[in-house]
Amino acid sequence: MKIYYSQSWEDIEVIIKALQINGSDIVLAITSSGDNIFGILLKEPKIIYAVDKNPCQNALFELKIKSIELLEYEEFLQISGIKVSKNINKIFEKIIPNLSQFTKNLFQKNKRFLRKGFLNIGKFENYILFINKFFLPFFISKGKIGKMFLFKNIKKQREYYYKKWRKDLYPLIFKLFFNEKLLRFLGRDPEYFKYLNKINMAEYYYKKAENLFLKSPVKDNFYLNYILTGKYNFAFPSYYLRENFFKLKTLLNRIKIINSDILSFLKNTENVFTKFYLSDIFEGETLDYFKNTFAEIINKSKKGAKFIYFNHFLDRIPENKKIKIYKNIQLENINRTFFYREIITGEIL
Ligand SMILES: C[S@@+](CC[C@H](N)C(=O)[O-])C[C@H]1O[C@@H](n2cnc3c(N)ncnc32)[C@H](O)[C@@H]1O
Repeated sequence: MKIYYSQSWEDIEVIIKALQINGSDIVLAITSSGDNIFGILLKEPKIIYAVDKNPCQNALFELKIKSIELLEYEEFLQISGIKVSKNINKIFEKIIPNLSQFTKNLFQKNKRFLRKGFLNIGKFENYILFINKFFLPFFISKGKIGKMFLFKNIKKQREYYYKKWRKDLYPLIFKLFFNEKLLRFLGRDPEYFKYLNKINMAEYYYKKAENLFLKSPVKDNFYLNYILTGKYNFAFPSYYLRENFFKLKTLLNRIKIINSDILSFLKNTENVFTKFYLSDIFEGETLDYFKNTFAEIINKSKKGAKFIYFNHFLDRIPENKKIKIYKNIQLENINRTFFYREIITGEIL
């Protein structure tokens, strides 16, 4: 087992808009990197169960929780890797003794690796940083990337993209580095490609990314900022803004971390949920697993419960009289990431 994702690449604004969290919500969410759990928590639900079948992802989340609980904001920026740190050992000393045994073992063994900052340690993030450091500069200059984040006007951004970016070698980078083979081996969890037929992943990602440059302001897009520069130097992850950091401190006791696959958890829990954030987990699961999970969701939901998940390249859509699927044009329009084909949202009737 290892850490595959140290950040979340599903747009938090899309999730928040779809789920419309309120103070009486009991949320069931996939942990992944934990970032989107913080984003949901900021909307102050009653409780969030953060479930992941990979204990290392939950360990990373525990480390993030303890960092928010025990550190000052400046220290948090350093342990996360957003800012460079000169006294990281002192910061570790405040956190490591307060972790559970499993998490302590995982990170004590890997302190060197943790020095990069906990946002930079997933397999996926390492792949992005690797492309960024060693290849991107040969395809497009730092200056041209920086300029893309300065436009206040979408028309000017679009013109610049056509004039300066499209002509560059930048489209080639998708073909070379976002194709299925390399992503499977270097970028993502190979489990996610198990049920996939042959598709042109690179072409698809390229078109989706291009759409972002043409239709939405890049200057606020912290996902693109990290992908293109390996840093947060133009835009900032909303859940880690100073005011949100202090708000999170007061809400952390509403999180329950669960090491389990979601279907087993649903079968065994006595809880009834009102909101579900399921990431793109069905990409790596069988059709039966998908159907059984939705059968359990229906069993363990309050009427009107809402859900969101992402289809990467498989078509997983529940067909059940008790489920209403929404159309998502508005959510697609605000989406700031390009790693998913479809956003699926709906309601339990
Ligand atoms: C689906 S992956 C994808 C990450 C995501 N695309 C993102 O942007 O964060 C997220 C997490 O789901 C977990 N996962 C996958 N299948 C699961 C399941 N059936 N039950 C619980 N967790 C699962 C993985 O261990 C991983 O940490």
